[in-house]
Amino acid sequence: MTDNDKYTSYIQQSITIKGRKVANRLFLAPMAGLGHVAFRELVSEFGGYGLLFTGMCSAKALPHENPRVSPVFKWREEELPSLVCQIFGPDPASMAAAAQRIEREGFFGVDLNFGCSVAAICKRGCGAELLKTPALAAEIVARVRESVSIPVFVKFRTGWENNPTLATDMAKRFEDAGADAMVFHPRVAPDRRSRPPRWEQIAMVKEAVSIPVFGNGNLFDINDASTMLEQTGCDGLSIGRMAIAKPWIFAEWSQGFEPDATTYHHMATRMTELLLKYHDEAFAVRLYKKFIPYFSAGFRFGHSICKQLLKADTMENLRENIDRVFETNPETVARPNINLFT
Ligand SMILES: Cc1cc2nc3c(=O)[nH]c(=O)nc-3n(C[C@H](O)[C@H](O)[C@H](O)COP(=O)(O)O)c2cc1C
Repeated sequence: MTDNDKYTSYIQQSITIKGRKVANRLFLAPMAGLGHVAFRELVSEFGGYGLLFTGMCSAKALPHENPRVSPVFKWREEELPSLVCQIFGPDPASMAAAAQRIEREGFFGVDLNFGCSVAAICKRGCGAELLKTPALAAEIVARVRESVSIPVFVKFRTGWENNPTLATDMAKRFEDAGADAMVFHPRVAPDRRSRPPRWEQIAMVKEAVSIPVFGNGNLFDINDASTMLEQTGCDGLSIGRMAIAKPWIFAEWSQGFEPDATTYHHMATRMTELLLKYHDEAFAVRLYKKFIPYFSAGFRFGHSICKQLLKADTMENLRENIDRVFETNPETVARPNINLFT
């Protein structure tokens, strides 16, 4: 048995979080603007995941949000049993109120964002900014915990300085406050995604708590998956950008799915249909354009494909571009070119 086989069988094992069973150990990481309902439907057509996470939703807006018109707080009934809604907010009361709505709607769980380091979010006292006030961050978790009975997840990163002790202390506080599972992204906040994540810190967080810890950051192929599991002992993996590039990554890692020449063309076209199913054309085109760099990264000449695809203002133009690109049978690469989307 190779290491990859060993870890494939580990990935396939179910895990129970607050008494609720999750089919396997692979999560789609929350990604604003990318992990929307249309993309999640595409992922579900391939299957193979344990849980899907929505992109972050404002806790303040969420109690009044209408899923029919909201661009982000939108889902399919069928995905609710394995869908976790992520929220961001600066205070315990608004986070608790949002979590209650999420529970009422029937989501699997709620995920609290303590990881986003985008200036617009941090300026409002949300996301990774809360790691500067650990007591307040823990109070948010405690208030959400006492307000709902669904699983409560936290997603966080190392903090604002590269001091793993701060991360392990924060992890313990989250656990003590009642978090049921955590996703840890071992990067300091100003880093964004420019430097490699420090996976050894995932091992330290895992060691510090007894709730399940999912590792996140730069999981690009099955060797990365095996290595992270082996080096950190984490309970599962949360996959971000590579899942956008390869929506079948969950099926590939947990069920041995192998894409063929038609998979890429199908995926590009299917995404146009699914976006139009949920959004008006202008918004659908905008979302498609965010997807293009990730999609293009799967090709040897991804930069040029990306440029060709982006030259479109309507879905019809996009579809014409897609068909034109595939007329030339573009060569795919096993490991997508991350320069296109970092
Ligand atoms: C475009 C984009 C949007 C993201 N939005 C969110 C978000 O809404 N909430 C969150 O917790 N993390 C967000 N992230 C971070 C990812 O969840 C993940 O932590 C990060 O991309 C590292 O994982 P990866 O290397 O597998 O992509 C986002 C990342 C990207 C690239």
